Amino acid sequence: MTMPLDFRQNSSEGSGVSSRSIPVARPDLTGNEERYVVDAIRSSWISSTGPYLDRFEAEFAAACHADACLGVSNGTVALHLALLALDVRPGDEVLVPSLTYVATANACRYVGAEPVFIDSDPATWCLDPGRIEAAITRRTRGIIAVHLYGHPADMDAINHLAAVHGLWVVEDAAEAHFATYKGRPVGSLARCATFSFYGNKIITSGEGGALTLSDPQLALRMRTLRGQGVDPERRYFFPITGHNFRMTNVAAALLCAQLERRDSIVARRRRIQALYHEHLQHCPGLSFQPIAPWAEVTPWLMCVVIEDDFGCSRDAVMAQLGAAGIDTRPFFIPLHTLPPFREEAAARGDRLPHTERLAARGINLPTFPGLGDDEVAAICDVLLSISR
Ligand SMILES: Cc1ncc(COP(=O)(O)O)c(C=O)c1O
Repeated sequence: MTMPLDFRQNSSEGSGVSSRSIPVARPDLTGNEERYVVDAIRSSWISSTGPYLDRFEAEFAAACHADACLGVSNGTVALHLALLALDVRPGDEVLVPSLTYVATANACRYVGAEPVFIDSDPATWCLDPGRIEAAITRRTRGIIAVHLYGHPADMDAINHLAAVHGLWVVEDAAEAHFATYKGRPVGSLARCATFSFYGNKIITSGEGGALTLSDPQLALRMRTLRGQGVDPERRYFFPITGHNFRMTNVAAALLCAQLERRDSIVARRRRIQALYHEHLQHCPGLSFQPIAPWAEVTPWLMCVVIEDDFGCSRDAVMAQLGAAGIDTRPFFIPLHTLPPFREEAAARGDRLPHTERLAARGINLPTFPGLGDDEVAAICDVLLSISR
């Protein structure tokens, strides 16, 4: 076993931040990113048309086994656009997991709909299909299934229940690019899917997002809504009220370079997860996100749960890792407990014991392609030394 390293030992003076501290996430921009961005700037195609945008949309659609891709300005906007295009209206209800980033529920509120929170499936930590039927009311219109921390939700079960009850399903794949469900990539598993390319995501353009789908009518409606509602046949004529949700050709240039290296980026993330599993498998009181037999995950952030018999609390573990120069994140705070949503959730009597248990105990560890094998080993050594 290697000695735990003190990643703070070379602290840069005055900054308060160690030059050797390990962040939770760091983008890998070591391919053609700079070259393509410079090329986009020199070409003067810097707004929301241009060759990189066309190339990104074609390549990302193909990677997701979808007929179409629309680049947008971020993942929140992608969700908002999906709900607008699906004609979600004030008073409608949308089933969403509680253990997710706030954008999933915020997007429902943007269109006046109410997010109704569903507990986590112990087998995946994503939205539990077994809890869907009890949450359906006559106002329910659809389900947003989030592929949490890189693990796909159980889409066959979710799609089946949706079909029985006449609901649409949107995949929120912000955290799971290129993960597969029963051999099929996320992005092709529901009516449409949304992605985020924020700087900590699996592939990134700093800020950015996309939708993928194979429904030409819905895609046309999304394109119109994305571009201020402009008529595709008649320039400067706006038959409906739309938005400016567009992606720039500069952001798409970054994504084209990222897509060239997607196999190595995904492989490295899987290798890092395997290393964490290997080093920590015998750590007492520590457990991992389960991986369903049908899932091929793209680990976004490595997840560990500090169980009661670990020896100290989750927050104490994070503090000790922090003191050793290792940055961590707690799991998402359950959305049904946040001020914008908690009164409605309490009035409905939402009960989400699995979500609450995970959220109180979970930690995300550093996970990014540039993280070295020795750094993973050293992080694990710190965790093992705390557990004793
Ligand atoms: C599950 C989920 N949905 C939506 C988003 C929103 O994406 P963005 O930050 O690009 O708006 C995120 C981003 O972190 C996310 O994790």
